[in-house]
Amino acid sequence: MMVPLTREGRKAREEFIALISKYKKPQESDVLEVGMGRGYFGSIVGDIFKTYSGIDNTIDNLEICNRKHSGAFDYRLGLAEAIPFGDNIFDILLYPRVFHYIELKDQAIREAKRVIKPQGLVVVIEPNPDYKGHIWVDPRMQEGSPSFEPKRLSDKLDKIRASMDYVRKQRVFKVLEEIPIFDNNMVASFLIN
Ligand SMILES: C[S@@+](CC[C@H](N)C(=O)[O-])C[C@H]1O[C@@H](n2cnc3c(N)ncnc32)[C@H](O)[C@@H]1O
Repeated sequence: MMVPLTREGRKAREEFIALISKYKKPQESDVLEVGMGRGYFGSIVGDIFKTYSGIDNTIDNLEICNRKHSGAFDYRLGLAEAIPFGDNIFDILLYPRVFHYIELKDQAIREAKRVIKPQGLVVVIEPNPDYKGHIWVDPRMQEGSPSFEPKRLSDKLDKIRASMDYVRKQRVFKVLEEIPIFDNNMVASFLIN
């Protein structure tokens, strides 16, 4: 069962459909979301695709996702660096807000290459490190919370910048474009196999 979307969710969904449709027909695409977390992204766009699968490295997230989507999507426990699916399966790989967490990026890219079909699309979406309106960039949110302490925040932003740079420079997939999305809140990099 899909969760009812907020106004922002609906807007993000429309924008995302338009972007993806530049390259692929969603209704004909088998999709894997790497690092699906609690299924937020899947709940916004999962139903537009032919099939929607997701992996995450935490069991709690897997249980939440399976409860939320009650079997509509194929969610599994797994690592970006060791994707628990066979070769040449997916038309689209999505990495929403996850690539900067991945430790072994070369290995993750090798795995992406293995599971994706020829001419498959890889979409890496990172929080925009230059956008000032993130909830975790708002100074009011930093008060009394170690997660938003300035040093940790600047380390996180550095990590995101390094991750984006890695994606731009990797040589396994061809970079098609990199654009701000969702009201400049995120940046999407589109790569083709
Ligand atoms: C910020 S959440 C993003 C969740 C979701 N993609 C979204 O946008 O709503 C990042 C998720 O990636 C997962 N993750 C981090 N490193 C991972 C890895 N190497 N392999 C698989 N999942 C990973 C974390 O457990 C977390 O659930």
